[in-house]
Amino acid sequence: MQSDSIRAVVTGGVSGLGLAVATRIVADGGKAALFDVNDDKGAAAVAALGDANAHYFRTDVTDEDGVAANVAAAKEFLGGLNAAINCAGILGAGRVLGREAPMPLKNFAATVMVNLVGSFNVAKAAAAQMQHNDAGDDGERGAIVNTASVAAYEGQIGQAAYSASKGGVVGMTLPMARELARFGIRVNTIAPGIFWTPMVDGMPDDVQQSLSASIPFPSRLGKPEEFADLVAYILGNRYLNGETIRLDGAVRLAPK
Ligand SMILES: NC(=O)c1ccc[n+]([C@@H]2O[C@H](COP(=O)([O-])OP(=O)(O)OC[C@H]3O[C@@H](n4cnc5c(N)ncnc54)[C@H](O)[C@@H]3O)[C@@H](O)[C@H]2O)c1
Repeated sequence: MQSDSIRAVVTGGVSGLGLAVATRIVADGGKAALFDVNDDKGAAAVAALGDANAHYFRTDVTDEDGVAANVAAAKEFLGGLNAAINCAGILGAGRVLGREAPMPLKNFAATVMVNLVGSFNVAKAAAAQMQHNDAGDDGERGAIVNTASVAAYEGQIGQAAYSASKGGVVGMTLPMARELARFGIRVNTIAPGIFWTPMVDGMPDDVQQSLSASIPFPSRLGKPEEFADLVAYILGNRYLNGETIRLDGAVRLAPK
């Protein structure tokens, strides 16, 4: 699709990778609806992007009905809906056998609920709207981009819940792309390595340095704009479908 015609829901759109995606979409002439649960950052993001181009919808992606209602409202604001980018996520770190006790099920389930179930909720609500779009070139009606992680493939100690949730995102990509093909809706996923966002910003300096040193080339953390650039490419290249793309400087996470 043409970059200036993009009308997108971006979850996690007020921070880190999601904010970079929304910023890129608006810079290219499109419009973005920001779905998040951080009202302060939401207001700041809209102030930066301009309220004609972006609108914040307080949305917990785990809330099925809330997501459906806000996707419909977002379509009104955007004047259509042809893209959904899932960036909302939580780390949910913790050992299966923690120092005090085994990981409570609610911790594991909460991570899966936000990262996997949340992505599903948004994808299905977006596809339900997109199926009614007029067909564009090749019959295209929309595109969905999910965010997994390299932890889907080589999760570290303490990432059992996170890796399970991200592995689920990778796993649902192809069947969803196959199913939605008849509506002309593409589904792809990006598996980022280690990016410089608020999620890693709080880590101590030595941890950040050792993270950078572990990345073959370029030996630094990824920039959110590099993630946004890949999202823009995926939205623009109609032949890209059903795929998960690693964006990671060739990093392979060690066990710890
Ligand atoms: N930063 C990295 O190195 C990295 C690496 C691999 C994957 N990822 C993934 O990329 C995505 C974005 O991460 P980020 O680094 O930009 O983190 P971030 O913390 O800056 O942004 C995540 C956003 O998701 C929002 N969010 C959390 N729970 C939510 C919920 N229930 N409903 C709606 N919004 C919710 C948060 O409020 C936040 O604004 C996440 O899915 C993360 O797992 C990040």
